[in-house]
Amino acid sequence: MSPKLFTAGMLAAAALLAGAANAAECKLPPEAEAGRAVAEKCANCHEMKAGEKSRPVGPNIHDVFGAPAASRRDYPKYSEGMLGASAKGVTWTEANLFEYLADPKAFIYKVNGGVVDHDMFYVVKDEQKRHDVIAWLKAVKGKPECN
Ligand code: HEC
Repeated sequence: MSPKLFTAGMLAAAALLAGAANAAECKLPPEAEAGRAVAEKCANCHEMKAGEKSRPVGPNIHDVFGAPAASRRDYPKYSEGMLGASAKGVTWTEANLFEYLADPKAFIYKVNGGVVDHDMFYVVKDEQKRHDVIAWLKAVKGKPECN
């Protein structure tokens, strides 16, 4: 084999190995795998990849699980209601996410104690889908390899 071909072959093998290693590192439980499809809808507004900036139309939520509400400093457009939730000490626990995703408006009104501005008009009605996408958020938190 020519040295050139050999080098190309080694590079290809290394790339394959690196790919395999990445795939192995991002091991998700089955319900999180199911949540990936739901998360693709969230990606219409949200940045879903670790290390990427928030978008003008939605904060980055890769690491939102367990985080305090409205904690992305690179998202300057949180609504009054979301900032209010933050002031009330709301964090994105499993239970809060479950309630928020079912009806963001109702959740924001509830935690603020009344009618207030809010900016997310997307609802996940299906309970199973909500469970799945929350499982996905929980599983990928802190794992850029699962981008
Ligand atoms: C149509 C656009 C849109 C879609 C689709 C959408 N969101 Fe949002 N989301 C927003 C906006 C805008 C905000 C900021 C809300 C505010 O400030 O009131 C937000 C806020 C959030 C927050 C709070 C973030 C923080 O930093 O505190 C979470 C959690 C969240 N969304 C989860 C989701 C999930 C999970 C999905 C998919 C199932 C989803 N969103 C789909 C627009 C969207």
